[in-house]
Amino acid sequence: MDAERSRRYLAAVGVVSWRRREGLAGGVAPAPGGRGAPPNAPGQEQAPIPGAPDGSAPVSKPISRPLSGPGVEPATAPVARSEGASPAKNPPAPATDHTPSLVGTMDWGQLEAAVAGCRACVLSEGRTRTVFGVGAPSAELMLIGEAPGQEEDRRGEPFVGRAGQLLDRMLAAIGLERGQVYIANVLKCRPPGNRDPLPRETAACQAYLARQIELVAPRLLLCVGRISAQHLLGCGDSLGRLRGRVHHYGPKQIPLLVTYHPSYYLRNPAAKAQGWQDLQRLMGLLREAHADGDAGT
Ligand code: URA
Repeated sequence: MDAERSRRYLAAVGVVSWRRREGLAGGVAPAPGGRGAPPNAPGQEQAPIPGAPDGSAPVSKPISRPLSGPGVEPATAPVARSEGASPAKNPPAPATDHTPSLVGTMDWGQLEAAVAGCRACVLSEGRTRTVFGVGAPSAELMLIGEAPGQEEDRRGEPFVGRAGQLLDRMLAAIGLERGQVYIANVLKCRPPGNRDPLPRETAACQAYLARQIELVAPRLLLCVGRISAQHLLGCGDSLGRLRGRVHHYGPKQIPLLVTYHPSYYLRNPAAKAQGWQDLQRLMGLLREAHADGDAGT
């Protein structure tokens, strides 16, 4: 991974003073349709970070691990969700059957309607909007966060608050924009005060996310934060233990990586260097997946 790309990442996440600022305005990473790292937002931290990547670290070789994620139903419906569809405003609940087997046969439209009308847990009572998911319905990369926060609840879209804006900048640093990936959360409704989801809440939402993953059928899953990783991997391990290796999810053994939640970087800017390692690994896996795909055609 070249030093220029490291510099772009650090610029994107708000760390600029360890190298000349004018060096950060370089071209975009070579992803199709990607754009350059946006300029730093006002008020972002400018201090150098200890142990910042110098661009010389090689991409880590992925390690295969046995499946530990929950199973998902086989896909039976075509992808039908259009990008950028406006989110539903908390409508009255239709009589929706949320049994996982039924959710597992839904197409995008049915699934979004089922989520919009869901009353399967108490979180539905406090929500402003459900937060279904956003992005390319056949994205190669799917990001999975924890649950909507205040801004997401207000707008009905995942990762649009401060943490989401940082996530956007990190994606931009590797040449990806929101519309090229698919972003969803474990929970579709905001927990009060942004507390951790309760087991009965994640259980109530589980089939929706499983179906979203099945419909997107990404080449790679990125769990953003501990809650998402523990949920998809069905384990209680710490994020530190789960980072840095390749897991696999579901019957299709979709490779899965785990990284810190962007809100963690907002609290601990020094951890952004580790985030860059994770993104390097992610890019390496996507390249490998492409090479495999090209070889098979
Ligand atoms: N944090 C998440 O995990 N998801 C969001 O959508 C926003 C913040």
